Amino acid sequence: MSKVIKIEGGHKLNGSVRIDGSKNATVALIPAAILANEIVTIYGVPRISDVQALTDILNELDVTVTRAENGDLVIDPTKMRNVDLDKENVTSLRASYYFMGALLGKYGKSVIKMPGGCDLGPRPIDLHIKGFEALGADVSYEHGNYVIEAKELIGNSVYLDIASVGATINIMMAAVYATGKTTIHNAAKEPEIIDVATLLNKMGANIRGAGTNEISIEGVDYLAGCNHEIIPDRIEAGTYIILAAAAAEEVTIENIIPLHLDSLLSKLVEMGVDLEVKIDSVTVRGGKELKAVDIKTNTYPGFATDLQSPFATLLTQAEGTSTIVETIYKERFEVVSELQRMGANAKIGNGQAEITGPSELFGENVKATDLRAGAALVIAGLIAEGVTEIRDIYHIDRGYANLDTKLTNLGAKIWRED
Ligand code: EPU
Repeated sequence: MSKVIKIEGGHKLNGSVRIDGSKNATVALIPAAILANEIVTIYGVPRISDVQALTDILNELDVTVTRAENGDLVIDPTKMRNVDLDKENVTSLRASYYFMGALLGKYGKSVIKMPGGCDLGPRPIDLHIKGFEALGADVSYEHGNYVIEAKELIGNSVYLDIASVGATINIMMAAVYATGKTTIHNAAKEPEIIDVATLLNKMGANIRGAGTNEISIEGVDYLAGCNHEIIPDRIEAGTYIILAAAAAEEVTIENIIPLHLDSLLSKLVEMGVDLEVKIDSVTVRGGKELKAVDIKTNTYPGFATDLQSPFATLLTQAEGTSTIVETIYKERFEVVSELQRMGANAKIGNGQAEITGPSELFGENVKATDLRAGAALVIAGLIAEGVTEIRDIYHIDRGYANLDTKLTNLGAKIWRED
């Protein structure tokens, strides 16, 4: 397996790039599919390593998964059995926590190792547990595994102290077969939550209010199979839009839902980026002088924390001082230190970063400290003078399908080495 990505910077990008299905929807849709008692087919599944990791977990549960050439995933849970998910593979990604809700919902029991994922500072799952307990489950932590068990799941009201994406989805999955009605108050409103609720409703669940801060789930007795197309990845789309603002002559980003990117697009306009927004695409024309702006990450529809790192790279090219305030993962600034090594003028402290530009960036040996930091460094590499070498690229492969091919097609010089 390749260990580093190398990028020769300074080549202007042109052409179009097609966005894949949403990673953060996919990683929830796959566990949600096992709640069905029949075959579920998911269209538009991105070719990322997180999907492979989830497929391996499904195989442990005796769920058959077939991947078609075009990426469609056929999930057959008809011979499924509930086993303890206590192997290391669970720790390779955060989203394995969705098996907590899915297995609890289907079998009344789930035993699972602590999920892993990007290191973005503390990432507790207390709100997931609060939800499971509200439905009647006992939760304990034994020999490195969560043991979550309920004699009977009974619908209840759950208030989330923080509008957590993962907790909202996990509680929805745990509640689909529960007796009576569950209401999630202060639910997260991200588009990925609507996508998961849509899949579950196609299977026969009775979920109302997804996309608002109050979601109700009326328990049902049976969930059937269905077909489902994943929504486009708003974070991959946002990354390519930012990348184009930094490095393009003219690039069109296709297969997107612009509404999901409102907060980003409005900031780019404020910076002076030339954008043409159509119903399912955005064209970015480069060459404009960029102005400094301030951003503050927030839950949807606020500025996505997952776009904060790529945006930081763009801010190094803007005239003046920009401030980034991170409210979701206060420690998510490691990439700024890497950007400093490439020539960025930045200060970090108190959950915020200040970036003063424009700065000329230079090729360096840098490290992808997490998935989105990796994307930020790819953008930096595209505009830097000389060759940038990015290591720990397995982070990038967790979330960006066919990155090298997509960038090469736009005219970038990018390759992998061992
Ligand atoms: N939180 C708690 N307790 C909980 C759950 C969350 O305190 O029980 C806190 C978190 O520590 C964080 C905040 O609530 O400060 C929001 O966390 P959330 O639960 O919403 O995040 P998540 O579900 O763990 C998903 C995405 C992340 C994305 C966040 C925020 C997946 C698999 N991950 O994480 O995506 O940053 O929502 O939008 O969907 C990425 O794609 O790079 C990524 C990290």
